[in-house]
Amino acid sequence: MPQPWWRSAVFYQVYVRSFADSDDDGIGDLPGITSRLDYIRDLGVDAIWLTPFYPSPQKDHGYDVSDYFGVNPEYGTLEDFDRLLARAHELRLKVLVDIVPNHTSSQHDWFQAAVSSADNPMRSRYHFADPRPDGSPPNNWTSSFGGPAWSPEPNGKQWYLHLFAPEQPDLNWFDPAVPAEFERILKFWLDRGADGFRIDVAAALFKRQDLADRPYITDRVTGARRFDSTFQIIEQPQLHDVYRRWRQIANGYEPARVLVGEIFEPRRHSKYIVPDQLHMAFALIQQPWDAALWRRSIDASRRALQGPGAEPTWTLANHDVKRPVTRLGGGSTGRARARAALLLLAGLPGQVFLYQGEELGLEEVDVPDERRQDPVFLHSGGKEKGRDGCRVPLPWRKGEPNAGFSTAGPWLPMPEGWGRYAVDVQAAVGGSTLAHFRRTLAERRRLARRLARRLQWLTAPADVLAYSRGPLTVACNFRNRPARLPAPGGLLLGSDPLVSVRHGVLTLPGNSAAWLL
Ligand code: GLC
Repeated sequence: MPQPWWRSAVFYQVYVRSFADSDDDGIGDLPGITSRLDYIRDLGVDAIWLTPFYPSPQKDHGYDVSDYFGVNPEYGTLEDFDRLLARAHELRLKVLVDIVPNHTSSQHDWFQAAVSSADNPMRSRYHFADPRPDGSPPNNWTSSFGGPAWSPEPNGKQWYLHLFAPEQPDLNWFDPAVPAEFERILKFWLDRGADGFRIDVAAALFKRQDLADRPYITDRVTGARRFDSTFQIIEQPQLHDVYRRWRQIANGYEPARVLVGEIFEPRRHSKYIVPDQLHMAFALIQQPWDAALWRRSIDASRRALQGPGAEPTWTLANHDVKRPVTRLGGGSTGRARARAALLLLAGLPGQVFLYQGEELGLEEVDVPDERRQDPVFLHSGGKEKGRDGCRVPLPWRKGEPNAGFSTAGPWLPMPEGWGRYAVDVQAAVGGSTLAHFRRTLAERRRLARRLARRLQWLTAPADVLAYSRGPLTVACNFRNRPARLPAPGGLLLGSDPLVSVRHGVLTLPGNSAAWLL
C-alpha cells in the first residue's frame, strides 16, 4: 500500500508576518513567501504550514480573524494566495492553512451584530452571561493571556467569554450555525487547493455550559495549589463528531486533505488521532536537556497513538515557545544541542514540524519592552515577556539593511548582528546549521523507504540515548563531555564536526548526535 503523502513528512512552519517582505513595508507577506519557496524546497521539506493570513485587526497577530474568506491586505490578496499555492505545488510542496475555530475577532461581523442589541440572534454564537450580583465577572475563569476570561460587552449589560484576548471572543460551538459555518470555511480553502489545516486550539472548542467556578487543585509536579487550567473545557462527544465531519470533508478530496490539531497532551492525542478524526497533533518536546526526560517524552508520545500506522508528529518549536537554541542553554551550547536534537527527532518514526529560523539556529531575541507587541506581554502588564522573541523576522542577507528582510524597519526590531545568521552566510559554509538541516533532511528522505517503523532503544552509556530503526542507528549525547559507544555502522551524519567512528567505536563530543548506517 503506498503511504499517504503526509506520513513521515517534514513540515515547515512559516510565520507569515516575519518570513519575507516583498513590498518593503517591514511586514512579511504572501508574495514574499512565494519568492522564497525555492529556499524552503531546498531545505528538503514536504509541506509548509502558513500561520493565519486572514483579514484581522492583528490583536493576536492573525489569530483574531475578522473574515475567514479573505487575505489581510498587509499580506496580499486571494490571488496572491492562489499564486503561492500554484508555485508551491509546482515545487511539490503541500500547503496547510491555519484555521482558527475557537474564537473570532471582536471585529468579525457576527460579534459586531451580537453586541449591537440585547436580542440580536447572533448572540447565541458566542458566550454571554450576566455578571454576579456584585458586578464581578460571571465566574472565576481566567484568560490564557492574563486577567479574567470575561469582559463586559461594550454597550449592553452582559459579559462575554474570551479564553484569550478580549478582542478574541470565544465561539459557542453548541450553536449549530457555528459548525455549519466552519464547514463552509474548510471547503472554501480546500476548493482553492489547500492541502489541509492546522487547527488552532483544537481541543477547546466546547466549553462547560454550567459555567461552574474553577476549583483549586494541587499541581502534580510542583505540589503548588493552582486553578485547574483546563476545567472550562469539556471533552465532549460533540467535538469528536465535529472532527469526524471534518475528516469526511478532507477525505472527499483527491488526494485526501490532512488535519493537524494544535493539541499537545499525549493523553488527548489518543482520543483525537484516530482513523476517523485528526491525522496529527504535536509531540512538542520542551523538556530540559536531559536524556531520561527526553526518552520519557518520546515514549509517552509514541504510546499515546494506537491507530494503525499512527506515529507522533515531533516538534521542538513554534511561534508560541522560546526558541530551542535558547531553551537548551543558549549560545554555542544551545546551538550544539539543537543540532543534536534534530538528528535525534528526525530519525524517529513519524512526522516532523520545523519552525522558521530553526534551520538558522536562531536564538530567542530579547525584544525591548517598548517594542513588544504580543498580547501576552500587554495583558499581563509586562509580567510575562510573551512570544515576540521567537517571532523576529528572518535574516536573509548579511550586508543589507535589516539583514535583507526589508528596507523599512521590520515590525519587530532585529538585534545587533542578526545578519551573522543570515541565509546567504550559512548557505556558503559547509558546517553551518543550515547545511546541517539540509543534509539531515536529504538523508531522511533518501532513507525513508528503508527505515523500519519499529524503533528499538539500545543500551547506551548514562546520559546517551541510542536507538535503531532497521539499518539506521541514532545516538545522542546529552552530556557536556564526550561519550563513546560501539558503532554498528559507518558514520552518515554528525551534528558536530568532531563526531567520529574509528575501529568500530563512535565518539560523540559533548552535546552531539550521529546517524550511523
Ligand atoms: C494558539 C496559537 C497562538 C494564539 C492562540 C489563540 O495557541 O498558536 O499563537 O495566540 O492559539 O488563538
